[in-house]
Amino acid sequence: MNLKGKVALVTGGAQGIGRAIAIRLAQEGADIAVADVDIDLAQTVLAEMKSRGTAAVAFKADVSDSFQVEELIKKVMERFSTLDILINNAGITRDALLIRTTDEDWDQVIRVNLKGAFNLTKSAAKVMIKQKSGRMVNVSSVIGLMGNAGQASYAASKAGLVGLTKSAAKELASRGITVNAVAPGYIQTAMTEKLSQAAKDAFLSQIPLKRVGTPEDVANLVAFLVSDQASYITGQVIQVDGGLLM
Ligand code: NAI
Repeated sequence: MNLKGKVALVTGGAQGIGRAIAIRLAQEGADIAVADVDIDLAQTVLAEMKSRGTAAVAFKADVSDSFQVEELIKKVMERFSTLDILINNAGITRDALLIRTTDEDWDQVIRVNLKGAFNLTKSAAKVMIKQKSGRMVNVSSVIGLMGNAGQASYAASKAGLVGLTKSAAKELASRGITVNAVAPGYIQTAMTEKLSQAAKDAFLSQIPLKRVGTPEDVANLVAFLVSDQASYITGQVIQVDGGLLM
């Protein structure tokens, strides 16, 4: 999966799945721009990538803000002159039962998880259309495909990403751009660390492969999807879930 000479932008790359994706793509030779609201944490990822000889830069950006996203793409272009790969990974949860979900929490989850991906897709597409090539991967979730009590806002945002992925894939295919989604199951990160032990046990008991996923499990699939080996794959939603949802 040689990504030498490619430039990848990973949102939410400061920790968890985004961090693993950034490091994995760097291992394949890509130059990396990490964008995150937590710039201090994002900086810590850079050292690990630079030691591999690829260029790596961190930018502070809130994906939900279209102005900041336009600025982010400008900065990436100033630094690297090209953008080949976009990974829409930044995401949050504000879990609550439906009737206890506040307007603010609903809006914030949709703004970050769904509008964030829209903002990045729109800005990056302008660059990739000119280049007549590009790879985009949206990090959805099995929760967007199956729903979950207490996660209506999150499930809606992740289901929305599926629609965005397929529409963008159809719209951008003729420009040499592929757009796919990955749908992770239960992956060990700070996001799932917040779950109660009962919720963790419940998920685990439903996973045929009998283990929690690692961020690297997701990163391996993303590395394939952005490589030349996946050039005939677009508009797909691929689960990385140990068989949880089948
Ligand atoms: P995490 O909470 O460990 O990391 C998320 C990163 O996104 C953090 O670095 C955070 O600072 C950043 N971020 C949050 N809001 C942002 C914003 N507005 N703009 C820019 N950056 C922002 O989460 P994790 O587990 O690594 O999740 C990454 C993605 O994978 C998310 O989209 C999540 O929904 C998805 N996912 C995670 C699963 C899991 O089991 N951990 C399962 C399925 C999907």
